[in-house]
Amino acid sequence: MKKSLGPGTWLYPTPVFVVGTYDAAGKPNVMTVAWGGICCSKPPCVAISVRKATYTYASLMEKKEFTISIPTEKQVVPADFFGTASGRDTDKFAAAGLTPVRSELVHAPYVGEFPFVLECRIVHVAELGLHTLFAAEILDVKVDESCLDERGRPTAALMRPIWWGPSENRYYGTGEDLGKGFAVGRVLQPGGD
Ligand SMILES: Cc1cc2nc3c(=O)[nH]c(=O)nc-3n(C[C@H](O)[C@H](O)[C@H](O)COP(=O)(O)O)c2cc1C
Repeated sequence: MKKSLGPGTWLYPTPVFVVGTYDAAGKPNVMTVAWGGICCSKPPCVAISVRKATYTYASLMEKKEFTISIPTEKQVVPADFFGTASGRDTDKFAAAGLTPVRSELVHAPYVGEFPFVLECRIVHVAELGLHTLFAAEILDVKVDESCLDERGRPTAALMRPIWWGPSENRYYGTGEDLGKGFAVGRVLQPGGD
């Protein structure tokens, strides 16, 4: 028997994105975003939802570009800090001892020490309510070579990305490998073995 919890933002897993922007004075800033995910394959696009009250919001509206840096299990402390302090009164990079790196393709910084980075250009803005949704084209994906497999593709097992549980308000690490996608379910198809 399931219990109805009513409308809510409980969804599993939610990502831990670290969104990088430059403010009007050119100061690099980062904020943590859990409301987001891939939203189109061709062109490759990602969506993030950000409240107007954040310092990042004005930078997104002005520059129309941002980065997403993905922290590892070992980087949960700065990832959480980026979601509790504001660039309005804090230099978060300096406070965390991390390096703002100017992106190649977009006017936005990323976290040099985080292994996985998306460079994004906003293509749609939608007012949803408390949050504004920014859909952005992914212009490039940059990954530390140590996180690539033998085919040159990003590998979660090497990268160890984290996720956040909105109900528990806790961070979790990369889980175990449960099998190959578009493959393990074939046993249930007619004639599958
Ligand atoms: C785990 C986590 C997830 C968060 N997800 C979001 C989100 O999806 N959207 C949002 O507007 N704020 C989110 N926040 C809060 C912002 O990161 C926070 O308000 C931050 O201080 C904003 O930084 P800024 O003022 O420098 O832009 C999240 C915070 C944490 C810790």
